[in-house]
Amino acid sequence: MNILILGSGGREHALAWAVKQNPKCDKLIVAPGNAGIAQIADCAALDINEGGVVVSFVGENAIDFVIVGPEAPLAEGVADRLREAGVLVFGPSEDAARLEASKSFTKEVCDAANAPTAGYGHFTDADAAKAHVRANGAPIVVKADGLAAGKGVIVAMDEQTALDAIDDMFGGTFGGAGAEVVIEEFMEGEEASLFVLVDGEEVLSIGTAQDHKRVGEGDTGPNTGGMGAYSPAPVLTPEIEARAMDEIVKPTMKVMAERGMPYQGVLYVGLMIKDGLPRLVEYNVRFGDPECQVLMMRLGAQALDLLQAAAEGRLTNAQVNWAEDHAITVVMAANGYPGSYVKGTEIKGLDALTEDSSNMVFHAGTKAEDGKVLATGGRVLNVTARGSDLQEARDRAYAMLDQIDWPEGFCRRDIGWRAL
Ligand code: AMP
Ligand code: GLY
Repeated sequence: MNILILGSGGREHALAWAVKQNPKCDKLIVAPGNAGIAQIADCAALDINEGGVVVSFVGENAIDFVIVGPEAPLAEGVADRLREAGVLVFGPSEDAARLEASKSFTKEVCDAANAPTAGYGHFTDADAAKAHVRANGAPIVVKADGLAAGKGVIVAMDEQTALDAIDDMFGGTFGGAGAEVVIEEFMEGEEASLFVLVDGEEVLSIGTAQDHKRVGEGDTGPNTGGMGAYSPAPVLTPEIEARAMDEIVKPTMKVMAERGMPYQGVLYVGLMIKDGLPRLVEYNVRFGDPECQVLMMRLGAQALDLLQAAAEGRLTNAQVNWAEDHAITVVMAANGYPGSYVKGTEIKGLDALTEDSSNMVFHAGTKAEDGKVLATGGRVLNVTARGSDLQEARDRAYAMLDQIDWPEGFCRRDIGWRAL
């Protein structure tokens, strides 16, 4: 089977690493890929948000299966173009991808499915939004409706912050994404995520994870895309997971199918858990990054069989073969991230690392140049390890990380602290 993975981050490196271990995988191409991915797959420069370009590439390279990593191509309808061309693809249609691309759409699907989530209002003008904030008081959460690269959510602990956020959003800070605003009840609790494969009708949980969104130790400082993650998430007990599946995932997926937009792909189910009850914070229509890295480390080669079963509508008979293991990933980021950061610095010491099925450094933002590995992004490396418990996984990850020679990078030393 010839496989094309779309994307260039640590998520796609981890997907490529798992897929490549499956004997079914013949040729593996990642577009556009990065320096780490280039060590295990061919990389191709391609505009992955252009359906026509991807369809042509698939034809020219005899690709049998396309796995879409990030949300942008999905929101652009790339999966639809591939399906129309008769290509097997893992990832939802543009319509179904609105579960991530529009917060008000997801809230409305939750209403229709009676799925537990924060109460909300949906606004297209600032005055009405502000009146809602004044009527409800703080804390309250203000969200740009559209895709805003993870920056469109303001958790306002006081009313003025919420009012300012409304002005910012309608003032165009997030471009078109902020032309509509969703204002939500503030939910207390502990956050965790559940990853579920969906084939249009059937659902299959493939693991739980928690990430650390804040840049600083003790979960302080500005928000990032995620400074580390671990799987499983102890707070998501089997009982709570079952509730989330029965009360949130299954009924909302049923609504999607009934509306003629069946969901196919992975559903990232962001949950807030309090007193044993899960409520939906958000859906994403892709794997989390860096959550994918820990999930792939735990699933290994079977990931390809599972993704293929979802794409082919065969999840009814699929099952996950679980090992009783734990995985953790620690992000190394460029100094300054998530603010402005230095680019192009050299990372040394990677070649000397022992990488195997329990220890991997996934590349998130690197490029190879003149035999050197250079940092090109904010989040640059995902140092990932597996162990029989979280402590063992964590010790292994930091032991690897400490061999990496990159003075212009930093990491958090406390990934996993909540669970340990
Ligand atoms: P989202 O992009 O919707 O996941 O929001 C980003 C982050 O904001 C979440 O991971 C939560 O930490 C926080 N958040 C979003 N919605 C709420 C809410 N209704 N109550 C409390 N925190 C929230
Ligand atoms: N790590 C959070 C996300 O992928 O959205």
